[in-house]
Amino acid sequence: MKVVILEDANEVARYGADIFERQLAHKADSVFGLATGSTPVALYRELIERHQRESLSFAGVTTFNLDEYLGLPPEHPQSYRYFMQQHLFDHIDIRPESTFVPSGDADHPIEACDEYEARIRNAGGIDVQLLGIGRNGHIGFNEPTSCLTSRTRIKTLTRETIDDNARFFGPDEEQPHLSITMGIGTIMESRLVVLLATGASKAQAVKAMVEGPVSAWCPASILQMHPSTVLIVDEAAAGGLSNPEFFKHIERENQALLTRLGMV
Ligand code: PGA
Repeated sequence: MKVVILEDANEVARYGADIFERQLAHKADSVFGLATGSTPVALYRELIERHQRESLSFAGVTTFNLDEYLGLPPEHPQSYRYFMQQHLFDHIDIRPESTFVPSGDADHPIEACDEYEARIRNAGGIDVQLLGIGRNGHIGFNEPTSCLTSRTRIKTLTRETIDDNARFFGPDEEQPHLSITMGIGTIMESRLVVLLATGASKAQAVKAMVEGPVSAWCPASILQMHPSTVLIVDEAAAGGLSNPEFFKHIERENQALLTRLGMV
């Protein structure tokens, strides 16, 4: 796992956006896995700016979101489909029919999970998967104790996750306790995983993810087994790591090597 420690959340967003921009330069019809939550918003803002300023185009891109609340229709303001429209899709040139979010109001949600897997397969798999991390180490809505080889399915949310996300719901709004989420096995098949974490509240989860053990108690720890994961954190989220200086040293060495090889 490559661990990149940066000064603040803005630098994290820019570093993440650079990865997506490079991927688009290399493959205009890339397949992106996308995430919701507070953390990726700055990265999406950065991509929108690059689209507006530099004509970075998403016209050939297909996207698959990680998860959705079960029971919320796409037009519900707390649904993740609505979130993606607001924070990204409505502001770039992506084709609406190429954006997929698990269907929160499917008539047959179990079948919908299998269909989602088939869609990802038919699109050729995910080139770059963006992830956040929960304070409890979840990725997508794969909560602690999730099967480490799981596929897209219905998951029960933990009390901690429900409480963490309560800030998005009004006092009278009912907050779903179930979700549809890509599985950990689905995420592990992505060619590149980019996980962003910012703020001190994520420091313990980041430590568990990086330093292990690999365990269903911290679903993100399985990424130690992924051949191409980049973890991008700010200083606060790196605060629990035993040896952050080592990762900074590696990153400086990598940059020097790429410069010497004329690759940056
Ligand atoms: P957050 O959520 O970005 O809102 O902290 C991350 C997650 O739960 O995966």
